[in-house]
Amino acid sequence: MAATELSVGTVANRAGISISALHFYEKKGLIRSWRNQGNQRRYKRDVLRRIAVIKAAQTMGITLEEIKETLSTLPDQRTPTKADWQRLSKHWQRQLDKKIAYMQRLRDKVDGCIGCGCLSMQHCPIYNPDDQLAEHSSGAVLLEHPELEKTEK
Ligand code: FES
Repeated sequence: MAATELSVGTVANRAGISISALHFYEKKGLIRSWRNQGNQRRYKRDVLRRIAVIKAAQTMGITLEEIKETLSTLPDQRTPTKADWQRLSKHWQRQLDKKIAYMQRLRDKVDGCIGCGCLSMQHCPIYNPDDQLAEHSSGAVLLEHPELEKTEK
């Protein structure tokens, strides 16, 4: 039967992170452990899901502070249920949708004009004549503000 309490090494190994990363997450208050009678640090098995969610959220560019705030909505003393995780994912829904839309735009536009001011691509004169988009914002304006994109007549 799978152990319900796990050692530092087991958690780090199974989660695919270093022990220092584990301690870092704990120091940041993202996960918790306790000490057993032998004064060894132990984790509840559900810490593996928390770590998996932390890593996935970081990959999506969500900050540790935002992750901490969201994970704080999960019960501490009991293993989070499906409903708990559903509540959590709702919390991130809008952010994740925005990031997914941004990544789709990047995928679809990387070979076209992204409104960055370089004027080096074939379609720049159409989508960003004389770098007019600079008046609206800095950076890749058409990635950040797709609503500014002109439709090609
Ligand atoms: S890609 Fe840079 S301005 Fe068009």
